[in-house]
Amino acid sequence: MTRVLIFDSGVGGFSVFQEIEKRLPSIDYFYIFDNKAYPYGELAHDTLLARVNSIVTQMVERHQIDLVVIACNTASTVVLPTLRKNLSIPVVGVVPAIKPASSISSQAVGLIATPATITREYTQELIRNFSKSKPVEMLGSTRLVDIAEDKLRGKTVCLTELSTILTPIKGKVDVAVLGCTHFPLIREEIGEILGSKVQLVDSGEAIARRVESLVNSVVPTKLGKREVFATLRPKEESALNRALSVMNFNPIQSFRRRFRIVSNANF
Ligand code: DGL
Repeated sequence: MTRVLIFDSGVGGFSVFQEIEKRLPSIDYFYIFDNKAYPYGELAHDTLLARVNSIVTQMVERHQIDLVVIACNTASTVVLPTLRKNLSIPVVGVVPAIKPASSISSQAVGLIATPATITREYTQELIRNFSKSKPVEMLGSTRLVDIAEDKLRGKTVCLTELSTILTPIKGKVDVAVLGCTHFPLIREEIGEILGSKVQLVDSGEAIARRVESLVNSVVPTKLGKREVFATLRPKEESALNRALSVMNFNPIQSFRRRFRIVSNANF
């Protein structure tokens, strides 16, 4: 049985999980979110690297994971080379879908992501390489990440606030990249504000296809295991557990990190 680990700072990775499990319902899923250090979009580069490396490698050892999905753009733009060096199993990352967005745009591309993702050299390089002919309007927002967290816990999204946040790109782009895995969770509301002429693009389906190609084909018999771990007791835990039970996850368990003596680790 294949065991897949999905990692994010919060609930954004569930948007990626939903795409993967449509194709692979019967494999075992382990989800861990590092809510202790949330939001990742405001975390220093080295702190993020050390945390993700330590949490993911420990989860892989403890649960005999076969494949890791870093379902977080903010982390993927930093940690993939280190994780791939430290682990002997496939590590799939999520980065902003600039290339497909630019290829379907005829005006300009909007990149909605975390404040960290829009400033990353990795992202700048994606833009230089894959959106040469289309300008990219960038919008970094942590508040949008919080709004998605709240929506999964059952809160209604305030469209007036959303409209204010999206003002910098409204009317300027014909394609918008959801460059944070939290944002597909509020896709409908973002679409409502930007209007039906703006196409929204995310990386979820491409990641699911990639995972499917790496996993040995499994005959869907019954639903696989679905376990979820958090590095801190989550806010509004019962509301969150209710939402996760709809995706067939067991109640959230706490993850305790073992500390190794590492020089200069800044946790
Ligand atoms: N879901 C994450 C991403 O894709 C980050 C959210 C956060 O700022 O923690 O970038």
